[in-house]
Amino acid sequence: MTATKGLEGIVATTSSVSSIIDGILTYRGYDIDDLAENASFEEVIYLLWYGKLPKAAELTRIRDELSAAAAIPEQVVDLIRLFPKNANSMAALRSATSALALYDGEADDMTKEANLRKAVRLQAQIPTIIAAFSRIRDGKEPIAPKAGATIAENFLYMLSGEEPSDVAVKALDKALVLHADHELNASTFAGRVTVATLSDIYSGVTSAIGALKGPLHGGANEAVMAMLEEIGTLENIDPYVNRKLENKEKLMGFGHRVYKNGDPRAKHLQKMSLELGSQTGDLKWYEMSIRIENLVTGLKGLKPNVDFYSASVYTTLKIPRDLFTPIFAISRCSGWTAHILEQYENNRLIRPRAEYVGPSTQKYVPVERR
Ligand code: SDX
Repeated sequence: MTATKGLEGIVATTSSVSSIIDGILTYRGYDIDDLAENASFEEVIYLLWYGKLPKAAELTRIRDELSAAAAIPEQVVDLIRLFPKNANSMAALRSATSALALYDGEADDMTKEANLRKAVRLQAQIPTIIAAFSRIRDGKEPIAPKAGATIAENFLYMLSGEEPSDVAVKALDKALVLHADHELNASTFAGRVTVATLSDIYSGVTSAIGALKGPLHGGANEAVMAMLEEIGTLENIDPYVNRKLENKEKLMGFGHRVYKNGDPRAKHLQKMSLELGSQTGDLKWYEMSIRIENLVTGLKGLKPNVDFYSASVYTTLKIPRDLFTPIFAISRCSGWTAHILEQYENNRLIRPRAEYVGPSTQKYVPVERR
């Protein structure tokens, strides 16, 4: 038995949720470029869960269901009030999402219908948790979800307490479409491994949030912004990037396990970064990002991934840096739950082997003689 480090190239399951073939990403067979230009996040949620784009009445139904389920239990709000004000936002999201299960009477109902209802609640309530956490730590009261609003609109409204602009809602909605699913990425795999023991959907999504948190995965968007802020000005870029590469350190937002010729989502986020920056008259982060991309791609051949330009997009939308990865979770919840439902449909325990490299033929020695 020989281990494959990082399971690179291992095909661990069949799936009909999304695919990456020859660098082209599709959700249920629809090219991401097509969806990014045309679909709303709610349409994509429906597509991922049900395998087809919704008809008008179906879209109205899913929007109504999500909107009606957006409030979180008062006990979970009280729990968030107990979190330290400086808590890591992904740790807060992970803990509060796990707690949702305690107040869901259907938490351990494993029927398909109940799991779909729980997927709706998770998708609707994760944005509410994040907005409540953000306001409570700032010493403000959480804001109740607005009936009838889309997920993007409602999240921005619950965060600031103000009606968001159409431009901001459209930008966030597109970012949510772009992040919704991505084949067997680490957090989706974590979620599938968890539910393959026939554990519940809340356990699966909680595992996935834990995996998304890391800077090699979803946490990279926050790390990109930290890097941009650390660099500070255009003039500082070249020495910073050269130093990082010389020291063999990772440049956040670059590289990908699957894409070697570029992440198809990055160009959409780059365009959004330019458009939003032009509208607000602040192109600093966009221009810095372009310079970094040219340098890193030129020197190392590494291309930006989904996390690179999302950092400047969210910053231009005035979203606090440590909410970038939670926003990734809002979007990816749709993919996680679609994969979890698919796993339940055709389940087998996921239990690979390890190549043992520890000592052998050891003999037990009593404690007083060690
Ligand atoms: C996401 O998997 C998914 O689908 C994830 C995702 C999704 O939608 O779910 O697309 C979202 O997680 C995007 C990735 C976000 N992470 C980062 O931006 C962190 C920085 N990137 C890397 O650490 C790295 O590229 C990974 C983690 C994304 C991929 O890691 P791999 O496949 O294990 O590659 P590796 O670390 O073994 O790197 C291979 C080579 C190495 O050089 P050599 O030793 O062969 O000379 O490429 C170099 C690496 O040093 N390299 C980098 C680099 N990424 C790879 N060098 C500098 N900076 C980088 N970012």
